[in-house]
Amino acid sequence: MQYRNLGTTNIKLPVVSFGAWAIGGWLWGGTDDEEAKRAIQKGIDLGVTCIDTAPIYGFGHSETIVGEAIQGRRDKVIIATKCGLRWDTEQGEFFFDTVDRNGESLKVYKNLRPESIRKECENSLRRLKVDVIDLYQCHWPDKTTPLDYTMDALLALQKEGKIRHIGVSNFTVEMMRTCLKKGKIESNQPKYNALEREIEAEILPFCRENNISVLAYSPIAQGLLTGKVTLDREFPYGDLRRDKTMFSPVNRRRVLNMLERVKPIAEKYEITLGQLFIAWTVHQPGITTALVGARDELQIEENAKAGAVILDEKDIHAIRTALEEMEPLQL
Ligand SMILES: NC(=O)c1ccc[n+]([C@@H]2O[C@H](COP(=O)([O-])OP(=O)(O)OC[C@H]3O[C@@H](n4cnc5c(N)ncnc54)[C@H](OP(=O)(O)O)[C@@H]3O)[C@@H](O)[C@H]2O)c1
Repeated sequence: MQYRNLGTTNIKLPVVSFGAWAIGGWLWGGTDDEEAKRAIQKGIDLGVTCIDTAPIYGFGHSETIVGEAIQGRRDKVIIATKCGLRWDTEQGEFFFDTVDRNGESLKVYKNLRPESIRKECENSLRRLKVDVIDLYQCHWPDKTTPLDYTMDALLALQKEGKIRHIGVSNFTVEMMRTCLKKGKIESNQPKYNALEREIEAEILPFCRENNISVLAYSPIAQGLLTGKVTLDREFPYGDLRRDKTMFSPVNRRRVLNMLERVKPIAEKYEITLGQLFIAWTVHQPGITTALVGARDELQIEENAKAGAVILDEKDIHAIRTALEEMEPLQL
C-alpha cells in the first residue's frame, strides 16, 4: 500500500481507503453487518487504514458498524466522517425523498447550520465510539447557511479537540475559496472515476495549487469499471443502481466495449479491471486516495491490492485514450 499526506498535515492516507456507504445498507439493497465488520478489519490488516463514512449512510448504521469494527484498533485508523445531511429535522435546503432501512418515508435536508453541526458531531462521536474524528467533512453545500457560519462552527469543534481536521465534499472552487478565507480545509471529496472526470477542469487543479487533498468517491463507478456489471446482471429492489441511467443496457454495453480494449493492460500487470481502474485513479495528479466501497472481505482484498500497483506512463495514457475514444455514455 502506498501512503500520501492528508493536505498540509502529517496524517498518512492510504491510496486506497474504505468507503463505508454500502455497509450502511441504505440504497445498496441491504447488507450483512458481520460481513461488513470483517471487511473493515481485513482492510486494516492490508493497510486500508482510512475509513470514510457519514451519518446518512444507513441513518447512523454505517458509523455504528465502523465503530464496532475498529474496537481495539483505533490508533491504526484515520476516521473520516461527515456532517450536513439531516433526515430528522426539516431545517435547511430540501435535498431528496427516500426511505429508511425499514421502508419508512423520509425527507433529507442539506443543513450546515452551526447548531446542527455540533449536534451531528456529538452523535457521530458516540456512534463511532471515539474521542476525536480525524477528518470532519461537510457532506454537501447548503444554500441556506452562509459558509462563514459553517466554518466558524467547524473551527470551534477543532479548537475543542473534537475533530482534528476540516474537509468538504461536493464543493465548487468558489466554495472552497470562501472556506479558505476563514481557515484551513485539508480535503475535498468529489465524485471521480475514469468515466466521470468533470473535476479535472477546475476542482482538481485548484486543489493541487492549494495543497488540498482530493478523496475520490465512486472510483470504480459503483462497480461498472470492474467488468462485473454485465448486460444480464440485475440489481435488487432498494439498490440505487437498479434505476440509474448510468447502468442502462446501452451504457453497460459501451463500458464493456471500452473494458475489452483495456483488458490487455490489466493482463500485463496481472491485475483485475477493478484494480487497474483504482490504480489509474490514484495515478492522476492531485488525487490523494480512492474511496472504494466494499461489502465483504473478498472485495476489500481485491481493492486493497490496487494500492501497490505502479502503472507506466504509457499505460496511463493508453487508458485515457480508450476512455476518450469510447462511445459517450447516454446520461
Ligand atoms: N461524498 C459523497 O457525496 C459520496 C457519494 C458517494 C460515495 N461516497 C464515498 O465513496 C465511497 C465509494 O463510492 P461508491 O460506493 O459510490 O462507489 P464505488 O466505490 O465506485 O463502488 C462500490 C461498489 O462496487 C462494488 N465493488 C466493490 N469492490 C468490488 C470488486 N472488487 N469487484 C466487483 N465489485 C466491487 C460493490 O457493489 P456490489 O458488490 O453490490 O456490486 C461496491 O459497493 C462510498 O462508500 C462513500 O464512502 C461519497
